[in-house]
Amino acid sequence: MFDMKHFKAIAAMSLNRVIGAGNKIPWHLPEDFKWFKRMTSGNVVIMGRKTFESLGGKPLPNRINIVLSRHPGRLQASLPEVFGQAWVGRGKTHFPDKPTQFELPKVGGAATVDLRIIKNVLKLDPASSPLEFYIAGGAQIYKKALPFCSDLYLTLVKREVEGDAFFPPFEDKFDLVETIRDEPEFKILHYRHKALFELAA
Ligand SMILES: NC(=O)c1ccc[n+]([C@@H]2O[C@H](COP(=O)([O-])OP(=O)(O)OC[C@H]3O[C@@H](n4cnc5c(N)ncnc54)[C@H](OP(=O)(O)O)[C@@H]3O)[C@@H](O)[C@H]2O)c1
Repeated sequence: MFDMKHFKAIAAMSLNRVIGAGNKIPWHLPEDFKWFKRMTSGNVVIMGRKTFESLGGKPLPNRINIVLSRHPGRLQASLPEVFGQAWVGRGKTHFPDKPTQFELPKVGGAATVDLRIIKNVLKLDPASSPLEFYIAGGAQIYKKALPFCSDLYLTLVKREVEGDAFFPPFEDKFDLVETIRDEPEFKILHYRHKALFELAA
């Protein structure tokens, strides 16, 4: 049985479900950025290659960055200064089942992996990993990874915004458990996956 406790999604969407426009986040909410930083610092952020590029092609500091690409070697070759020292791999052989052999680059580093490998992360014994694994977008990755997430921390931006990247439907699979903050411009909502949270508890 996979242990789902290790995946949490963190995202911000507008009332009309927009999360991005032109490979950027189409609002400026410093308080929400602070929230994201506080939640993810010292932990692991997992993001798609396009989101990584939208951040300027640099890993987020003080976090282990995992960048998902179907062509991790290509990404490493194009950004050797970022991925030169990174763990780059595909397939199970790079991800031994033994949690103690599971290696991630040191905090601040970056790795590129295939989403299938992420499922093997779920085999980690929660007791042996003090880190949280945050799925941090974008649209393609949320869509694929949300089914594996026990928790969703969603900032709801209280306006409609034009965009080209959207948050997938999740409401039928998740329960709202807490409104963490409610500000004039946004609120931060905590959802739990109906089935997975029971498994992880
Ligand atoms: N508001 C928010 O909370 C938030 C958060 C993050 C991002 N965003 C926004 O979201 C937008 C980007 O989203 P996006 O959907 O265009 O791109 P994305 O999800 O960030 O990245 C897509 C890329 O991920 C890789 N990928 C997808 N499925 C994979 C799999 N199964 N295995 C391995 N790699 C896989 C592919 O990279 P390759 O092409 O290299 O194979 C694909 O092109 C931007 O506008 C960004 O600003 C918003």
